[in-house]
Amino acid sequence: MDKIIVHGGRPLSGSVKISGSKNSALPILAATLLTREPCIIHSVPDLSDIHYMLQILSHLGAHVERASGTVTIQAEKVATVAPYEIVRKMRASVCVLGPLLGRHKEARVSLPGGCVIGDRPIDLHLKGFRALNAACRVESGDVRVFADELRGAVVNLEGRQGPTVLGTGNVLMAATLAEGVTVIDGAAAEPEVVDLADFLTKMGAKIEGAGTRQITVEGVKELHGAEHSVIPDRIEAGTFLVAAALAGTEVTLRRVNSGHLGAVTNALNDAGFRTDIVRDSITVFGNGAPNPLHLVTEPYPGFPTDMQAQMCALLSRASGKSSVTETVFPQRFMHVSELKRMGADIHLDGATARICGVPRLSGAPVMASDLRASAALVLAGLVADGTTEVNRVYHIDRGYESIDDKLMGLGAEIQRVKHRATA
Ligand code: EPU
Repeated sequence: MDKIIVHGGRPLSGSVKISGSKNSALPILAATLLTREPCIIHSVPDLSDIHYMLQILSHLGAHVERASGTVTIQAEKVATVAPYEIVRKMRASVCVLGPLLGRHKEARVSLPGGCVIGDRPIDLHLKGFRALNAACRVESGDVRVFADELRGAVVNLEGRQGPTVLGTGNVLMAATLAEGVTVIDGAAAEPEVVDLADFLTKMGAKIEGAGTRQITVEGVKELHGAEHSVIPDRIEAGTFLVAAALAGTEVTLRRVNSGHLGAVTNALNDAGFRTDIVRDSITVFGNGAPNPLHLVTEPYPGFPTDMQAQMCALLSRASGKSSVTETVFPQRFMHVSELKRMGADIHLDGATARICGVPRLSGAPVMASDLRASAALVLAGLVADGTTEVNRVYHIDRGYESIDDKLMGLGAEIQRVKHRATA
């Protein structure tokens, strides 16, 4: 398995271009199954999760072509069963359920298991499909959804942990081809849901309220092909903002939507870092040890759970005591024990990390456990004394396009050691 080696202490400066959003691109690619006409999607990041999604679409019978960041997909005829071998690699595979149900009134996908960030049920997705008149069964480890006819309905998708991002997208996609009007209450308001709704609207769907907690969809008979550019990845951008705050002098992020990053830039400002926004770029200025913060993750527009691990890395070096409470995935703290191996002083108290800032971190061999945890370890390595070896970096390749090259472009000393299979 590849590893990333970071030699700490090199200051970051310069500019970096942010890629298209993984979490927007995944459901948007799945949505191309809703039409037999070609769709062209731009700014699709080059990531392993995206490759898995394209493999699933090909397996289902879609014709997929990829040239640089543009993907052209035509799903003239599609099968309705997604194979376990690919689906098991990525939980977001479940977002083919909605479009297949919408178009063919039937879909079968392996039920996703839990993952290191906690139990990841899909009960709310199924609640939405049932409300649209579909039956849902679990058979031999697969979830099967089917209907004679999909009918619009009013459904509330708010769960105990708040709204569901992919669940909202899934039900939204199915509802575009249902008979009549669907109202999704308790909908996720994340920018990725808005991006999906924008793409569906270009395909001919009738959607109102995306970006609010209530989305209304008037079903249409069919959708057509469309062309769309995926929004910039707000989590990749947030990760580079934190990298710059930790180790930067002056770093500019290009191709960002600063409107999507308010919670992160506010937190950085509270921590004592200046951020300047000019059109689609943000510059962050290094300022020594951060002020301590008390953060709580929340659904959008609150502080994103996908930035929690990176923020723990930053606050490990704060000048005082911080706390970070996770409300979306209360068990998402796999990075804590690894950060402690680098000298961080963090104590887990239920779903709250209590962090006592330390003046120095020290490099260590550490293990990536999930995507954002891996990013946090690379960030900590940027300021640690000595060398940090981040193992199992396939996690990071799921969600960060060329993170090592991008950090190197900013002056980090970082290298990827390729694993050579032995005979
Ligand atoms: N939940 C349920 N039932 C459901 C669905 C979700 O109880 O049917 C719970 C979850 O267990 C969790 C909460 O609701 O406690 C929110 O989960 P959500 O469904 O919103 O997560 P998701 O849609 O599966 C997406 C992102 C995640 C991101 C979350 C929250 C994609 C591909 N994934 O997941 O991104 O953390 O929304 O914002 O869009 C990442 O990129 O690293 C990542 C994990």
